[in-house]
Amino acid sequence: MRIKTSSLLVAVSVASEVSALPNSAPWWKPRPWKPPHQHPFRNADLGPRPQFLVNDMDDGWLKDRLSACSEMEAWPSKFSIGHRGGACLQFPEETRESVEAGTRMGAGIQECDVAFTSDRELVCRHDQCDLHTTTNIVATDLGAKCTTPFTPARDGTPATARCCTSDITLAEFKSLCGKMDGSNASATTPEDFLRGTPSWRTDLYSTCGTVLSHKEFIKLVDSHGRDFTTELKEPRVPMPFDGDYTQERYAQQVIDEYRAAGIDPSRVWLQSFVFADVAYWLRADPAFGEQAVLLDESGDTPETFPDAVANLTFYKQAGVKVIAPPLPYLVILGANNEYVPSIYATTARKLGFKILTWSLERSGPLAQAAANNDYYYSTIANGTHTDGDMYRLVDVLARQVGVLGIFSDWSATVTYYANCFGLF
Ligand SMILES: *[C@@H]1O[C@H](CO)[C@@H](O)[C@H](O)[C@H]1NC(C)=O
Ligand SMILES: *[C@@H]1O[C@H](CO)[C@@H](O)[C@H](O)[C@H]1NC(C)=O
Ligand SMILES: *[C@@H]1O[C@H](CO)[C@@H](O)[C@H](O)[C@H]1NC(C)=O
Repeated sequence: MRIKTSSLLVAVSVASEVSALPNSAPWWKPRPWKPPHQHPFRNADLGPRPQFLVNDMDDGWLKDRLSACSEMEAWPSKFSIGHRGGACLQFPEETRESVEAGTRMGAGIQECDVAFTSDRELVCRHDQCDLHTTTNIVATDLGAKCTTPFTPARDGTPATARCCTSDITLAEFKSLCGKMDGSNASATTPEDFLRGTPSWRTDLYSTCGTVLSHKEFIKLVDSHGRDFTTELKEPRVPMPFDGDYTQERYAQQVIDEYRAAGIDPSRVWLQSFVFADVAYWLRADPAFGEQAVLLDESGDTPETFPDAVANLTFYKQAGVKVIAPPLPYLVILGANNEYVPSIYATTARKLGFKILTWSLERSGPLAQAAANNDYYYSTIANGTHTDGDMYRLVDVLARQVGVLGIFSDWSATVTYYANCFGLF
């Protein structure tokens, strides 16, 4: 302590002598200063969370194996896909800040969900009509343009609002602040309506997230040398919109923006839940169709699940190469409550699909998620007790199901596993 204090004093006195010199030219060599956002993030900063999760695991070889990687140097991995930017556990989703934090945490592929504005520009939003929960729109003048402007809670009726990207222009969209997704059903004022962040997320970075157009997203992700995944969100207005803006024009616009930016199709994974969109990409531009991802949520109930499995054969015959079901479709519990691949997983593998899955780190503390029958853990709830179980899930997905990538709300969690097991 004394040493530090005295060296600090020396430094201070040197500095004051220097500033007293008549010639103001600096005696140190100034570092070349680069503005932020213009240099690529090369290595991956994983922070403390992977270690927290590993420490929380039950004893066993996987814990030992992951612990042994605690001092490794980490690099970006395409196995780690940034969901809504890859940091929306703590940063406002689909914003520059989430993309940058997810990129820092080693997401090798970055996601923008696209919706269109009234002037037919593509912007990153998870739903065409989520502006009232993901931005500050209701507390701005633009709130008046919402499909349903803010209505306060009254006599037990919850507060409402419904605001869509198609209600406003790109320029108007760009004036909004991205915030943590959520709203307050008891709000009597627009400002109170903005509050609704679960306690296990945070508002610390929800100061004014920079919302992005799809073109800005492409430029940002390209500047860091990462790959891209754009999801075409289902329109919430009847198509064609505004006269002649058809579903196919909308699907084509995504490709056009990548082509205009000079991005090689091998770096792009287009996604849609709608089979017709994927079929369009396969037909209209096979270079982009090659990696087009069919998102599947057709088997959410025990009644529909067998049909979803059966339909994989149909998709295969139709030329789909990449399938992306949610986590619970792929992993179930075995006889001893261990995690094992499901019939969906083994069928998709047998058919030769590339498989991606979504989404890790959306469920908060896992003991609570399992008890509440959280969607993502619904098929493994009885075998899930602790946050460390997340790495058992990732391990089964990686080594037994053979997924190519996992979408995560906190990219470091997946990047750590990928680096430890050499998945790039
Ligand atoms: C929700 O809104 C009500 C009424 O405006 C307010 O009293 C309450 O504090 C708000 N909740 C939060 C979490 O801000
Ligand atoms: C199979 O997929 C096609 C195309 O998405 C759909 O029309 C059909 O309803 C699906 N069948 C089942 C049984 O889910
Ligand atoms: C979990 O266990 C409970 C109690 O044993 C049982 O009722 C329930 O069906 C199980 N859930 C699943 C998804 O297997």
